[in-house]
Amino acid sequence: MIRARIAGVGGYLPERLVTNDELARTVDTSDEWIVARTGIRQRHLAGPHESCAFMATRAAEGALRRAGVEAGEVDAIILATATPDEAFPSTAVYVQAALGLATGFAFDVSAACSGFIYALAAADAMIRVGTIRTALVIGSEVYSRILNWQDRTTCVLFGDGAGAVLLQAAEGGPGIISTHLHANGGLAGLLYVDGAVGQPERSGQLVMKGQEVFRHAVSKLAAVVDEALSANGLTQADVDWLVPHQANRRIIDAMGRKLGLPPERVVVTVDRHANTSAASIPLALAEAVEDGRIRPGHLVLMEALGGGLTWGSALVRF
Ligand code: UT7
Repeated sequence: MIRARIAGVGGYLPERLVTNDELARTVDTSDEWIVARTGIRQRHLAGPHESCAFMATRAAEGALRRAGVEAGEVDAIILATATPDEAFPSTAVYVQAALGLATGFAFDVSAACSGFIYALAAADAMIRVGTIRTALVIGSEVYSRILNWQDRTTCVLFGDGAGAVLLQAAEGGPGIISTHLHANGGLAGLLYVDGAVGQPERSGQLVMKGQEVFRHAVSKLAAVVDEALSANGLTQADVDWLVPHQANRRIIDAMGRKLGLPPERVVVTVDRHANTSAASIPLALAEAVEDGRIRPGHLVLMEALGGGLTWGSALVRF
């Protein structure tokens, strides 16, 4: 049986770091409120040269390097983003060009904060059926472009960055065990960007009903965790690491408790990165693989919920 193995991980964070106290100078908020309600202490914000494609390319290069794979071996680049550099072409083709490739194919996935899970599921399926053997799956976001910097209920929550994994086809052994995807477009009004290219009458800014999204996140993520385990005949005790989407420390802690995992078995970056949407899971993975927490043989559960609403999980043996 062919499996998609995660052979390398990489991440990129913008150079500029912005603390809660810095934000509190321009918007009516405080470090105390942000830490207590979200766990966020700081975020990285992209400078003019740190485009979605630039950050994605840096993360992809890290994943290739750690996998020991040449860019020329990549068959597909699947990039999850809600903040592409242009409406088209996809940001993925700019990454392809920046990596010096003119072979294979590349496309973007739009599923907001669940984008990385969606992109991983697409790559996994194509590897399993033999369409491709090697794929870069990337999450890259520049939410600083779509935030209303006067709206304290949203602007304090997000950060910029990119993360990537290099997937390779392997016979049996470790790899992606399952993915589960969900969407409910009837809930689109809870979290969206108001407008698109060519609609100057609209703000182009992120709008969120935070409390309602929070409520859906806690219940739907608990359900996908159960779904992932029961589909594979596994129990909570089998999971070595939870690598959740990093939106809010309170949601992350609730999922850790639900899995009966001690806090030291949950990878948390929201305190330092804030919510980087589709980049948050691969950035967290990159950190925990690099520092040696996630090791070969470990079973890792990833879950995310975001605009759409979209949500899903991926269960991976490293
Ligand atoms: O990644 C996609 C998925 N997104 C999520 O999962 C986000 C889910 N939602 C959340 O994480 C939380 O709902 C928030 C962090 C967005 C908000 O936390 P909350 O505990 O639900 O706060 P709230 O919206 O109920 O607001 C409580 C109070 C309000 O004041 P009043 O009405 O009680 O006087 C807000 O106006 O806090 C006020 N507030 C703030 N105060 C200081 C809201 N934002 C701020 C702020 N600084 N930045």
